[in-house]
Amino acid sequence: MSTRKLYIETYGCQMNVVDSEVVAAILQQHNYQVTEELDEADLVLVNTCSIRDNAEQRVRARIREFGRLKEKSHSFSVGVIGCMAERLKEKLLEEENTVDLVVGPDSYRDLPALLQEVESGQKGINTLLSLEETYGDIRPVRMDRNHVTSFVAIMRGCNNFCSYCVVPGTRGRERSRDPETVVRECKELFEQGYREVTLLGQNVNSYRWKEGEQVLKFEKLLERVAKIHPLLRVRFATSHPKDMSDHLLKVIAKFPNLCQAIHLPLQSGSTSVLGRMKRRYTREQYMERIQAIRKFLPGATISTDIIAGFCGETEEEHQQTLSLMEWAGYDFAYMFKYSERPETFAAEKLNDDVPEEVKSRRLNEIIVLQSRLSLRSKERDLGQTYEVLEGPSKKSDAYLYGRTSQNKVVVFPKGTLKQGDYARVVIKDCTSATLKGNVVS
Ligand code: SAH
Ligand code: SF4
Ligand code: F3S
Repeated sequence: MSTRKLYIETYGCQMNVVDSEVVAAILQQHNYQVTEELDEADLVLVNTCSIRDNAEQRVRARIREFGRLKEKSHSFSVGVIGCMAERLKEKLLEEENTVDLVVGPDSYRDLPALLQEVESGQKGINTLLSLEETYGDIRPVRMDRNHVTSFVAIMRGCNNFCSYCVVPGTRGRERSRDPETVVRECKELFEQGYREVTLLGQNVNSYRWKEGEQVLKFEKLLERVAKIHPLLRVRFATSHPKDMSDHLLKVIAKFPNLCQAIHLPLQSGSTSVLGRMKRRYTREQYMERIQAIRKFLPGATISTDIIAGFCGETEEEHQQTLSLMEWAGYDFAYMFKYSERPETFAAEKLNDDVPEEVKSRRLNEIIVLQSRLSLRSKERDLGQTYEVLEGPSKKSDAYLYGRTSQNKVVVFPKGTLKQGDYARVVIKDCTSATLKGNVVS
């Protein structure tokens, strides 16, 4: 049988990036080879995200584009995988006639069998969720371009059921991956020349692996990965504020290769909104966690996620988000307008009653404030020297692009350095998004 060509397009979070690599590994065993050229694809897979309505709309537009292309140029099969596949199931086959295959996040091992059905002219679908699947034994086929930084999934699913969120529905129950396979994968990446791994889960603080009577928690796993090699940087995402422990912060402080950057999603600065969101912490409890980070990791940056205009949000509640942002002085933030998602608690029990233009205005105020905070955070680095791990610059061959341990982007003249090297860079200039500097020997 001749080799078939697989083209994968990935949307959504970093977990989907890893899943696409797992899917490529599964299909490679069945005579498929990854291509970056759509023109030569026999199979196009779209790995999708359902987190907000606009994420889904983008994918639908793309699927229709594939449909037109199929008619115009050459024939290929189209599969939808990931969170939209799980959320919409058969509906996707009914609504988008270009789609031949629908596969949810826990059913990727079934892809080869489903593709046989597609080849015989049927449609293929499997959206069963699992309580155990972690793909722990599969060595992902790396599709990153830089060969310096990589993601490693340590768990799947989510049990938190924040009232606005589709993830518990699309990814199923939380389960942790065997630590031996995590450590092995990170070791192999280091041996292949990678210098940074990001351990991934929706709520890494609740990682737990039971072996007999012993329970291995996230702190211990992180320590084991940190010990692989001092030149391997380790990051992780995401932490849930309700589960972020002092113990974890102390472990990070102990190992220089554990990065000094904490992502701690706030969502809202108002205790009453947090209650409606079912986040299970108050404004004060969240602030106490920020103080703990500052105490144990004084050099760390703190980033966050914020949702503007959640159900019932008053002007006063919105102001509390702004004041908390100012107090925390975030170094970076992802900011979103609330988007109601079908079948979530909020969609069924709360009223999406903040008018669109009010949501937009509040989001805009949040963005303007964060730009100011981001700039202030970068300006603090002027004149300081940081160790930067390099990847290639997207814009020019003469410059390299890298990140500090604090996860800030630095651009600097390349000189004789190459990808994967560590460089010491003194910061000379900045914008709210980037630092600029020169290498010091
Ligand atoms: N598990 C992670 C984040 C998952 S989704 C966590 O709990 O932090 C990433 C971000 O998308 C969330 O932190 C939230 O800010 C945002 N988000 C999730 N659902 C949303 C919705 N319905 N509307 C707008 N933003 C949403
Ligand atoms: Fe969604 Fe909350 Fe789980 Fe994050 S913790 S994935 S926001 S339900
Ligand atoms: Fe999106 Fe699913 Fe990730 S909804 S954010 S791709 S877990």
